[in-house]
Parts: sequence; structure tokens; C-alpha cells
Amino acid sequence: MKAALNTKRLPQKAAYHQNVQPSQTTPFPHKSPSLGILIRRNEQFKKDFKQNSLFKLMESGYFDTEEKRQSFLAYFQIWSNYFQKTMLLKTALCEDSNFTPMFYQHFEEEYGHDQMLIKDRTKVRSDRKVNVKKDAILEALCNWFLSKMLSLTPYEQIVVMNLCVEAVAAVFYKFAKPAIDPTNQLKHFQAHDGEIDVHHEKMGLSLLENLTISQYSRLFEVQEDAWAMCEALMERLGELVIKDIPSK
Ligand SMILES: [Fe+2]
Repeated sequence: MKAALNTKRLPQKAAYHQNVQPSQTTPFPHKSPSLGILIRRNEQFKKDFKQNSLFKLMESGYFDTEEKRQSFLAYFQIWSNYFQKTMLLKTALCEDSNFTPMFYQHFEEEYGHDQMLIKDRTKVRSDRKVNVKKDAILEALCNWFLSKMLSLTPYEQIVVMNLCVEAVAAVFYKFAKPAIDPTNQLKHFQAHDGEIDVHHEKMGLSLLENLTISQYSRLFEVQEDAWAMCEALMERLGELVIKDIPSK
């Protein structure tokens, strides 16, 4: 039986704030910061992320009409566009030859996924037009990632874009595929089948080896901030589709 989901059943805002409490999201506090702990913390962030309200919505059976799925994709397009710009900016501004080969490879493997999604969305419409959605909060959340490519070091950018955003993608597409693309029509989703995002998550980890304790401490902060932003971004996507088309 499909759950009659409404916003009251979704985790409330407080759940997001609970997720960013240091006591919950900073495992291994007694140990010296290291790459090993950074990776283990990431596993915990990933595990917590699977409880995001968007995934509860996807599992509830809410997305049972093309209208709801298309509404979701119209909002998701905003993030897809920003992700592409963020990857482009990160790669374009990277001057350190220790990082440029990996940044270029990652960029090439992601290039054009935003346009792929637009094409997927136009195919289902007889007028071939895309439904454009806007939301100031979603825009601001997406912009955080873009702006960080101007201010973070390449080490910190790997934490944001690989360790966090790609781990998010690996979880997201697992939940989104059966809810949003149950008949396997969308090329954008096909591009994320398999373990490609898991591979992206691990890209660049070798570049984070042999840093100082204070550098790892800083990466912990960036990691926590990036996961909090991803949690909020995904939660906002869920809120928006329900606001547009409440469940009956
Ligand atoms: Fe990826």
C-alpha cells in the first residue's frame, strides 16, 4: 500500500539541525585528525544522510504521477546546472599541477549531464518545452558550492566535491531511480547507474595523504559544513515538490 504522505510525516527542520550537532557528526573526537578518520567520518555522514526526508518521500510512493516526477526534475535541474558550473569553475581555476589531472578527469566524466537532463525532460512533452522552476532557498544552497570553489584550497575542494557531493550522488541515485525513473527512460539517470559516483567519491583521496594535523582538522570542518549543506539541499527539494503538489 502506498503511504499517503504529507509534510507532517516528513522529518521536521529540527532533524536537520540535529544532524549537524558536533556530538552526532564528529565521530572519533578523541583521536588525532588523520585521513583515516576523515574517511571514517565520511562513512558516518553518508549513513546519516540516508535518513534525509527526501529519501523518505521517494520511498513513500509519493512520486506516483508523471506530473510529480517532472516537478521534481524541474527543481533538480537547478542543482544539476549548479553542479556543472561548480565543476567547471573548480577545474578552470586550478593552477596546482598536483591537482589539475584529477580535476580535469573528474570534470570530463561529469561534463554535459545538465544538458542531458534538459533533453530527458523535453522528450516527455509534446511542446518540447521545459518546465522552469525557481526557488530562492534552493538557489542559495546550490550557490554555496559554487562560491566555495573561489575560496577553498584544492584539498578542501576534494573534500567538498568528491568526499561529500559524490557520496551524496551515490546515495541519491539509488533512492531516486525507482521513484523518479522507474521505467529507465532518463539518460541522465543511466549515466549514474553502477558505481561511477562511488569511483568519483574516492578520486583524489591519495592527494589528501600526509597532511598535518592542523590541515586535517580544517578538512574536518569543511567536511561537516559540506554535508550539512547537502542535507539541507536535498531536504529542500523534497519540501518544494510537496509544496507544489501536496499528496492526497
Ligand atoms: Fe559523479
